[in-house]
Amino acid sequence: MRLVKLIANLGYGSRKEIQMAIRNGWVTDRDGNPLKVDSKTPHEDILFDDEPLDPPEGMVLLMNKPLGYTCSTKDQGRLVYDLLPDRFRMRKPVLSTIGRLDKETSGALLFTDDGTFLHKVISPKSEVPKVYEAELDRPLKGNEAAIFASGEMMLENEQKPLKPAELDVIDDTHVRLTLHEGRYHQVRRMFAATGNHVNALTRIRIGGLGLEGLGEGEWKLLGEEEKSRIFG
Ligand code: URA
Repeated sequence: MRLVKLIANLGYGSRKEIQMAIRNGWVTDRDGNPLKVDSKTPHEDILFDDEPLDPPEGMVLLMNKPLGYTCSTKDQGRLVYDLLPDRFRMRKPVLSTIGRLDKETSGALLFTDDGTFLHKVISPKSEVPKVYEAELDRPLKGNEAAIFASGEMMLENEQKPLKPAELDVIDDTHVRLTLHEGRYHQVRRMFAATGNHVNALTRIRIGGLGLEGLGEGEWKLLGEEEKSRIFG
């Protein structure tokens, strides 16, 4: 029964369907021997339909989110989950995004089914910096870096000033901005408060982890070294 529950929790089907799959011999070890419901074969040696099983609970994914996709499981329109295998939506525990990107923001987006890891990444204590590249509608005025770094900038309808953020100027309409917190639409609202408008926004880095060759809409599982880079 352990095997049925394990595979069902990975989203491959209901317990009934998995029982059937086992009975039909679709669940095997690496040598192609069909497994029984009471098999104790290690996770990494189990094949479903000749393919290794998805990783167990505790997985972390990095996606290069394209524009036009929403970070939600059930909004109208295109969802970031549409870019992952369908069964990932049925996993238990659920696979969530770590924070969100706006529909019209692209770039680095993490997912996990590990609640402890999720909280560690978003916790203010971890101070994971997030780096964004923005294209602005109008040339910079020149005082933005000082305003963002001041630790005194207030956004509309907020009670607490923003933490200091670092602005690197690429040219007068292109910047890199490093944030140490994640408020709603933060980058767009920061530039709006300076009288500008963000035309295009992409997150290029979360902590020490960049997109490194991951194309738009692509994703990959993170290993231990890449996970630790988020905090490094
Ligand atoms: N700031 C924004 O304005 N949008 C995002 O998606 C992320 C940060």
